[in-house]
Amino acid sequence: MIALLVNGRAETVSAPGDTRLSGALRDHLGLTGTKVGCDAGDCGACTVLLDGAQVCACLVPLAQAESRMVLTVEGLAAQPMGAALQRAFLHHGAAQCGICTPGMLMAAMELLQAAPRPTAIEVQDALGGVLCRCTGYRKILEAVQDAHRFLEAVPLVTMPAGAAVGARLPRTDGRPKVTGAELYGADTAPADALWLRALRSPHAHARFTLGDFAPLLAAHPGLARVLTARDVPGRNGFGIYPDIKDQPVFAEGVARYRGDAVCALIGTREAVEAVRAEELPIAWEPLPPLPSPAAALAEGAPAVHARWPDNVLTEGRVLHGEVEAGFARAAHVVEEVFETSFVEHAYIEPEAGWARRAGAGVEVFATTQAPYMDREEVAGVLGLPPEAVRIVPSACGGGFGGKLDVSVQPMLAIAAWLLDRPVRAVWSRTESMAASTKRHPARIHARAGCDTTGRLTAFVLDGDYDTGAYASWGPTVAGRVPVHAMGPYRVPAVRARARAVFTHNPPSGAFRGFGVPQAAIAQEALYDRLADACGLDRLEFRLVNALRPGDGTPTGQVMGPSVGLVQCLERLRPHWRTLRDAAAAANAQAGPLRHGVGIACMWYGIGNTGMSNPSTMRITLDREARLVFWNGAVDIGQGSSTVLLQIAADALGLPVDNFHMVVGDTALTADAGKTSASRQTFVSGRAAQEAGAALRASILRLTNQGPEARLRLDGHILRVGDMSLDLSALDVPLEGVGRFDPPTMPLNENGQGVPYASYGFAAQLVALRVDTELGTVRLDRIVAAHDLGRAINPTLVEGQIHGGIAQGIGLALMEEYIPGRTENLHDYLIPSMGDVPEIECLLVETADPLGPFGAKGIGEPALVPTAPAILSAIRDATGAEITRVPALPHRVLAAIREASHRGARPRT
Ligand code: FES
Ligand code: FES
Repeated sequence: MIALLVNGRAETVSAPGDTRLSGALRDHLGLTGTKVGCDAGDCGACTVLLDGAQVCACLVPLAQAESRMVLTVEGLAAQPMGAALQRAFLHHGAAQCGICTPGMLMAAMELLQAAPRPTAIEVQDALGGVLCRCTGYRKILEAVQDAHRFLEAVPLVTMPAGAAVGARLPRTDGRPKVTGAELYGADTAPADALWLRALRSPHAHARFTLGDFAPLLAAHPGLARVLTARDVPGRNGFGIYPDIKDQPVFAEGVARYRGDAVCALIGTREAVEAVRAEELPIAWEPLPPLPSPAAALAEGAPAVHARWPDNVLTEGRVLHGEVEAGFARAAHVVEEVFETSFVEHAYIEPEAGWARRAGAGVEVFATTQAPYMDREEVAGVLGLPPEAVRIVPSACGGGFGGKLDVSVQPMLAIAAWLLDRPVRAVWSRTESMAASTKRHPARIHARAGCDTTGRLTAFVLDGDYDTGAYASWGPTVAGRVPVHAMGPYRVPAVRARARAVFTHNPPSGAFRGFGVPQAAIAQEALYDRLADACGLDRLEFRLVNALRPGDGTPTGQVMGPSVGLVQCLERLRPHWRTLRDAAAAANAQAGPLRHGVGIACMWYGIGNTGMSNPSTMRITLDREARLVFWNGAVDIGQGSSTVLLQIAADALGLPVDNFHMVVGDTALTADAGKTSASRQTFVSGRAAQEAGAALRASILRLTNQGPEARLRLDGHILRVGDMSLDLSALDVPLEGVGRFDPPTMPLNENGQGVPYASYGFAAQLVALRVDTELGTVRLDRIVAAHDLGRAINPTLVEGQIHGGIAQGIGLALMEEYIPGRTENLHDYLIPSMGDVPEIECLLVETADPLGPFGAKGIGEPALVPTAPAILSAIRDATGAEITRVPALPHRVLAAIREASHRGARPRT
């Protein structure tokens, strides 16, 4: 028994002294507010205060905490500064998914006890060990610096009826995130749940045979069962597309990537963890892997899957105009090959959840972005109808596309079904990184031409995207890239092709941008070169070519009125001048530091590409006066629960505080589609608007009031204009249902059609300095101008922009996933607080006639222009053309050397 003081209470824990303090807090004391993102001291999610000093609880043995004071997030509210900090986090929108929030709060608490009004540098130093993948850190920094103000009872923002849209409301699901009460996939399970541990291929490509597991079961009495492919009751395959279920729950005889699941152990936690790899009766025969699309496309390469003998999963293309004629009349033509790397989602919450048998069906509680898609997959592998499966999403500790594919769900469901016991699983960080999907690495050959005035005449892009061992979202990427390949510009002739190519690498899937960020790196770099070639300023070059309302696109679509790229560029222009002048002044100093300013633009189609994409929302008002918003859109941290509520509330005409919310349970909410493709604000938002309007219309009908009537809930009485409705007299609840499916048209074989009903536009500036001796890059400032139709909640919009930019910084400068070598957050680097510079957001609102109150989407647009703008700035500073990302110091140095051989000069 080890005694310690936790949050002011004397506690004893009956556990060995070498138990991790994080485990003791979570598993023995039920304090699951302390999160575990890596169990290795890398992420800081487990940060607590030990005698007032921050520690990673995953690195502290319980014995070391004996007789000492531990403060966790659950104890924060009892301290005035702790409560102030929580309120500051809510006010500033500093928590998105919230999985890092307890760690951030605890690290901040240590600082604020010593320095109640800290400088930005002090905050960066104090919080530098805690990683956040969502926020870009800026709002966290603001909140910590501002916490002292919340020692007074500063009221948080609330809005009256009809004023929610456009207001900076704190997120509706924020409080549990700052108190530690939020339950993620690993935070809860039935007490009698068994544990599941998947065993995975250590080889990128191998044949294997399974032997007799009986001796293993006998040697480990706590093991209940071993599951293999033979145990899958239904289809041993899952995948995003209805006709491509190519990823097995358990591989059958062949492993196609390092991380492919081969079998799973079910039993007590101690038993499944005790099994060593060498005890397993698995005979491996390693085979030569196909490590790249080039190898997979080579003459005579073996097929990763017999169904695709040439290893090409799919090819998307857009053909428009006379490309060769366009190049023939060009005054300047540039071309280049660009390469990008695997990028890991690195959400701080690894995959986790539990399942249980429920009558003739199964219930699964797990972290996800797509509950209805999960339902289909689980039903498929169980051989059950979808209605027999209930998916209850846990809070999602970051997704970014990586939790659109199922992870723990199929195995857990099979185990629970076969054993008739609840079964839970929590992936380790290493397992998460090895097994989950990645951003597609791409090799892109692009060519662009313009006339003497800088007007684009032709553009060609040919991209091979490494889709890894299984299809996942490969077809979506191959389809989306050609549409966006030339960027948001008027280009009269385009030939764009993207192929998704199978290899023996981890499956590449959805990751914020679906292949578009990679293509943007190519297109924007070429446009910088063309601008130089024709002597135009890079911003002016983009302005000359920018798409405008009413323009046709290379898919033959005619743009509507909501095209705000010109406004974005105009808003940036004064910043461009100021930053460029500052860089030129700084470069007047001698020394190895060279300053530069870069620019890049983007457009992004909201929602699915040329296919149906519906969402359904429901609002009810019952005889108990309970106003319930039944919202099937999973909030993965981006704030959809808040934004959709703001929309629904204003459409109905009651304040947001009147609503109760039910989110994302397939037994209770209608299908809102997946949380991806920046679609929830636009698609589900419009459905929420329709639902609110429908309920309002029936209330007005019932009370015979006109459209301007004001609503007010007064106990059981609903006041409607000058009428009153006694809700307790209702026989059935009043209901409003809204459904929206954006009008699109499938693309034909030449990529002609209407791929998206709405597009976001943006332009970003980056100011940075390059150390030309070390090859290191330091970002000084980013200015981001985004046309998002309408900012439903500006605080949340800024949070999305900051977070997208942070991920763009990682893509440009540091992130490179290498299977088997970077399967942890120590070797795989993501931006930390000190890596994200000051960011200024300029919101451009060009109301989209289809969007709810004019809104479009922002999640992916925020990321797309960042990496190309950084590369543009490096080139501006040094003349170096970076053609391979991430721009690690050795690549920057090599590019600087190459530039000096070419005689290229820095611009400023
Ligand atoms: S869980 Fe302790 S540092 Fe990541
Ligand atoms: S809010 Fe920080 S990781 Fe999600």
